[in-house]
Amino acid sequence: MHAASVLLSASARWLTVVLPLGVLLRSAFVWLYNPGPFYWGNLIHAHSHTAYFGWAGLGLMGLILHVLPRFTGRPVAESRPLIWLLRLAPWAVGGALVTFAWWGYAGPSIAFATLNEALWVLFAIVFWREVRQAPVAAWPAPLRFIGAAVLLLLLSISGTTLVIVSEAILDSAFPLLYQAGVYLFLQLFGDGWLEVGLMGIVLALAGVRDEARPLLTRLAVAALLLQAPAALRMLIPRGLEGPLVPASLIAGALQGLVQLAFLAFARNLQLPEHARPWWRLAGLSLAVKAALEFVPLLPAWSGLALNRSLVIGFLHLKLLLVVSGALLGAMAQVRGPAGRWAFRLFASGSVAMVSFLFAHGLLFDRAPATSLPLYALAFAAAFPAAIGGIWGAAPAAAERRARLVHRLQRVLSLW
Ligand code: HEM
Repeated sequence: MHAASVLLSASARWLTVVLPLGVLLRSAFVWLYNPGPFYWGNLIHAHSHTAYFGWAGLGLMGLILHVLPRFTGRPVAESRPLIWLLRLAPWAVGGALVTFAWWGYAGPSIAFATLNEALWVLFAIVFWREVRQAPVAAWPAPLRFIGAAVLLLLLSISGTTLVIVSEAILDSAFPLLYQAGVYLFLQLFGDGWLEVGLMGIVLALAGVRDEARPLLTRLAVAALLLQAPAALRMLIPRGLEGPLVPASLIAGALQGLVQLAFLAFARNLQLPEHARPWWRLAGLSLAVKAALEFVPLLPAWSGLALNRSLVIGFLHLKLLLVVSGALLGAMAQVRGPAGRWAFRLFASGSVAMVSFLFAHGLLFDRAPATSLPLYALAFAAAFPAAIGGIWGAAPAAAERRARLVHRLQRVLSLW
């Protein structure tokens, strides 16, 4: 089967683990109980790492391989790095899921996380081999976004390396260094690789080639350069001082401007039919996120930035509504659409869950009695979000038929 299809199918399968695990985690905020032989903290790590490595990471790789031939004019070559990427991906993600769930951050889970990073390097090699024939100056606009995203994926490894150096070599002597590593990874991977890469996918699937190239090129370069300084904002409530404070705040606000400028451009695009509702939802969510990128400029922000419900609400605005919404739209376009109810359930559940989390974060101090009802509502909203997401990523009937035919052909060829 085509490498892109293998990665997209794997990504959809990991989503069927990630979302139910998220619903289970939400239940713990409503009832106090023990998750059998596990710890909740470890299950949160299993949920987030499988979401990053399996669902979003492999999904974006699959989409990139799917659109690359439009720019190179030939199918993606079956190279050794690609074969190893496909071979190792199930072990890398599955190993991370099991070891994070069982041990949390420990030797085995760090080993599997590192294996995932090795996959990212393999993917960067595959990407570079496909595009190196043409000079970067000649790359069409969508490829520039995708190229910036692949570079950000590689740069995100610096964040995890900083965490390991800070913990294993410097023995946690500099807590701010550990935090810097965590936030550098979260920003470079989530806002960088995933968000910028999906902008490239939207442009590619909407048929953009060279239109408005200067504007799009400036946006891609700005998105690339602003990520690392913007990540440092999250260290301000944890004691960061000096000139890095204004620099990181300005970088974060500029990042919001880049997102708004991208949306202004994308508004005029002819969006592909099956992706349209999902991308409209992701676009609206990105507009909310872009507006929230300016909030750190307010003095009250340092207090809000340590509020767990607000942090988790913002994180799911970004990863569930923007990233997963855009991925599901692209998958509907590439693999065939799921039913209309898939979108309706995902959209209503996700918007409600994120809104209840924001409401919880803003109300808890003033009205603690609202805490349990809001958590219960967020838990209830998680069900339609998860069902809609899993349904939305399921292959359409045509794709299922094609896969069946492919399997039959393989069985017959063995005879
Ligand atoms: C139905 C959908 C989902 C539900 C119900 C859900 C639920 C949760 C819950 C309950 C937590 C822990 C909150 C806390 O510690 O206060 C969490 C954390 C997290 N989730 Fe989700 N989630 C969903 C989808 C996703 C998706 C699609 C992604 C990524 C693409 C994602 C990424 C994360 C991350 C990165 C964390 C933070 C982990 C940490 O702080 O260590 N989630 N989620």
